[in-house]
Amino acid sequence: MSRFFITTPIYYVNAKPHLGHAYTTIVADSLARFHRLCGDETFFLTGTDEHGDKIVQAAEKAGSTPQQYVDAVSAQFRDLWPELGITNDDFIRTTEPRHKKVVQTILQQVYDAGDIYLKSYEGLYCYGCEQFLTEKDLDAEGCCPDHKVPPAKISEANYFFRMSKYQGWLKEHILANPDFIRPERYRNEVLSMLDMGVLDDLCISRPKTRLTWGIELPFDSDYVTYVWFDALINYVTALGWPDGDLFARFWEHTDHMVAKDILKPHAVFWPTMLKAAGLPVYQHLNVHGYWLVKDTKMSKSLGNVVEPLALKDRYGLDAFRYFLLREMRFGRDASFSEEALVGRLNADLANDLGNLFSRVLAMTHKYFGGQVPAPGTRTAPADPALGELARNALENYTTLFGRLEFGQALESLWELVRALNKYVDASAPWALFKEGRTDELAGVMYTLLESMRKVALFVWPVMPGTAEAMTAQLGGGFDLARVDLDAEVREFGGLEPGTALAAGSNLFPRVDLPREEPAPQPAAKGKAKEAKEAKGKGKAAKASAPVAQDALGVIDFTDFQKLDLRVGTVLSAEPHPDADRLFVVQVDLGEEAPRQVVAGLREFFQGEDLTGRQVVVVANLAPRPLRGKTSHGMILAVRREGGMELLTASGPVAPGSKVS
Ligand code: MSP
Repeated sequence: MSRFFITTPIYYVNAKPHLGHAYTTIVADSLARFHRLCGDETFFLTGTDEHGDKIVQAAEKAGSTPQQYVDAVSAQFRDLWPELGITNDDFIRTTEPRHKKVVQTILQQVYDAGDIYLKSYEGLYCYGCEQFLTEKDLDAEGCCPDHKVPPAKISEANYFFRMSKYQGWLKEHILANPDFIRPERYRNEVLSMLDMGVLDDLCISRPKTRLTWGIELPFDSDYVTYVWFDALINYVTALGWPDGDLFARFWEHTDHMVAKDILKPHAVFWPTMLKAAGLPVYQHLNVHGYWLVKDTKMSKSLGNVVEPLALKDRYGLDAFRYFLLREMRFGRDASFSEEALVGRLNADLANDLGNLFSRVLAMTHKYFGGQVPAPGTRTAPADPALGELARNALENYTTLFGRLEFGQALESLWELVRALNKYVDASAPWALFKEGRTDELAGVMYTLLESMRKVALFVWPVMPGTAEAMTAQLGGGFDLARVDLDAEVREFGGLEPGTALAAGSNLFPRVDLPREEPAPQPAAKGKAKEAKEAKGKGKAAKASAPVAQDALGVIDFTDFQKLDLRVGTVLSAEPHPDADRLFVVQVDLGEEAPRQVVAGLREFFQGEDLTGRQVVVVANLAPRPLRGKTSHGMILAVRREGGMELLTASGPVAPGSKVS
């Protein structure tokens, strides 16, 4: 059996958790779940880093003692994780006695081996960074570039770890193990760091005269450990080093997950510390980029700190988790915006995934009384090309996920989701039903349901709640112990004919972004408006008041009159810069300025095919941002097998002519 040990950084408790902490922890959780799904024995660790000047300062500011303060903030982290679906096996705090003991044992061991020594030192110290800086670290004004304050000149004797001694070994280790630090850009960054010159030895202590909130050095009670030597050791403390069973089982299967801000401590300090202590080093250091907000770092002073719980409450946990993994290219920075989240939710989750489930379930009820039909042959999909596509998609998903290419992995899975939606259109079950071709219909519906079951399984690491809801809707339970992922890629036919399905599915109701400015509202209110939206698009209704399609019923003529349908001439159709399937279309509706409409037509049309065409536009829809571009209407179109046709007038009419 394979094993997998995954860690997050232990977070400082000088501020409450935000989007950045949530991202690392959700990525680590998804990876832990993925390994569990693959059948690996998995251990997942997170926790809090509670010593150091920063914490003392934050406690002072909050008017409490360091201990009261760290207890309170650590609890905020610990309590947040279950809300975000995090399945950590342990939560470690550096103020726990178990940790103090391990830190002291390792310090003593490295000291006894001669790799820790006392040295008088004079240098420029930045209290914000909690470290000495050199002249070349400072900006043009002589300030710390991060904290914008001049460092203090201080002189003191401190203990140093002989890190330079291990520089050659570290470089060789990185060269011999290409995926020790990944993605490659960070490996290269570390290699060039090591090529730049001799590594400085690492200062690992603070005199108690300056800091008492730390772990005392076992060989000199006038000192406490410097924050990194203390913090990094958490990873082995939690496994019960030196003789814990977990340590024996998991240490050689260690993957650390961090962001680029703490690359050097993890890529240089930590492996050399381990080497000096005679411990094997970790397997992989996985380094991701930063979430930015409007291209700027999140910070309390800018007031742009994104709170994970608020997003979870507004959009649902799984949509939030999906967005984070889908949107950030692992290793690169990414920009967070609620607009982008809503765009993904509506496009990928409501339109693609949610719609697939609600359509197929509804059809199975209509044609087979809500039971999985028995196909002629159960072990092969009705359409071999779709079967091939599904195998490839699932195989790519698994490979890419294991390589931390989460966005591409999900894209691969969505190729299958979209192919299944197209398969519904192309195989037209309603026509098969009407023509009484029951065997064919059973084959099509079984293929859809069985493929949906696979999608539900594979998406579990990212969207556990949704996966569990989907498997339940398909008449099963989510039993991790019974999943054989390899077999699910290769084989078809796991779904039992005769299984009773849920009555309906409304996984991801469409959502609207909270509006920033008052938008012109169509006269319609409440039900009638939602009914129009749901019916017009054949999709789930708004989150605020979901309306089941069955309940829509008949509308009044006055309801129809509320729609302002107009014919317009397309002036241009440019690809949306941030969405592969959308055009940003300018339409002449006979108004003062062209109307901008964002339309999902790119799968079927080239921009030049649209220019000059007359189209029918819903002209009184409330404006809606779609991936950063506001849409002021909707172009009407009809899907057909393998494509789409635009609605138009049978002859040329003046732009802006009303449809009645
Ligand atoms: N206590 C140290 C880590 C010690 S590990 C032995 C620390 N703590 S921290 O609270 O500052 O957390 C830093 C980590 O939080 C980053 O490495 C990353 O995992 C996460 N993030 C914080 N802000 C982030 C973004 N804006 N974007 C993505 N992740 C970020 O450093």
